Amino acid sequence: MARPHIEFVHAQNVGWTSRADGAEEKVLNADPLSDEATMIVHYPPGYSAPANAPDHGAEEFFMLDGAIDIDGEDRRAHAYGFLPQGSGLGARHTAQGAVLLVFRHAAGDPNGMLGTAEAIAIHTPAMPWDVSTYDPKLIHLRLARKVLRLGPNDSGRTFLLTGMAHGVPAEGTTLPAEMHDHAEEMFMLQGAMWAPEGRMGAGAYFYRPPGILHGPHVSEYGFLQIMRSPGANAVVTHWSDVHKPLPLGAPYRPVLPEGTPPEWARELAPQAIW
Ligand SMILES: [Fe+2]
Repeated sequence: MARPHIEFVHAQNVGWTSRADGAEEKVLNADPLSDEATMIVHYPPGYSAPANAPDHGAEEFFMLDGAIDIDGEDRRAHAYGFLPQGSGLGARHTAQGAVLLVFRHAAGDPNGMLGTAEAIAIHTPAMPWDVSTYDPKLIHLRLARKVLRLGPNDSGRTFLLTGMAHGVPAEGTTLPAEMHDHAEEMFMLQGAMWAPEGRMGAGAYFYRPPGILHGPHVSEYGFLQIMRSPGANAVVTHWSDVHKPLPLGAPYRPVLPEGTPPEWARELAPQAIW
């Protein structure tokens, strides 16, 4: 596992790459040592593909837009799926086109193989929110969760996380930073959250390897994000003794891997709602 730290980019600044099969993709972060990667895939109207080949790594996905039939089931926005390697799943067709966030697992990863990993198909809007797991140090965000997948052998959890609007402590408050022994990955679906690296609005993406101090985070108007914790099914947080000021209004200062195209680092102004 050697995926680079990227925190954070706006997916809107990442250009599409055309694929031989007629789809387009934006690779947001990838492991240089395997084919593990996180990408956005756009299937044009009329696109069809057969089931994933046996040597194709497990495919984990979250629907962002459009509609697509995968293995005979209609999937629409916020559908979640996990297709283990070797499962013979993944045959797809879309009449109107579809956009998916795809977490491709490394080919040959034992935790993604059929027999160890299970196929999953969830219509996530129908799931209840879990509000039982508030961390007292994050109480200001009023978080709720939907756990979509717990990987075998503690290989990682995938979940939706939402925070209520007005998740900002009183002016002058300071908060600790946090660190984990596992990686963290996030794609912002709705709303926005402030971090010391700037304002993560809808389309913001980060991949954070283990051991990186981050936060604090606050949210003025709430957010919905999909998160993964590669390397652990339970998030364990080490809190810093030093407290930091609230990151409200922090300028965009991303951490980017060497070789990142300069256009990925453009500031993206929030869109007006009037
Ligand atoms: Fe964290």
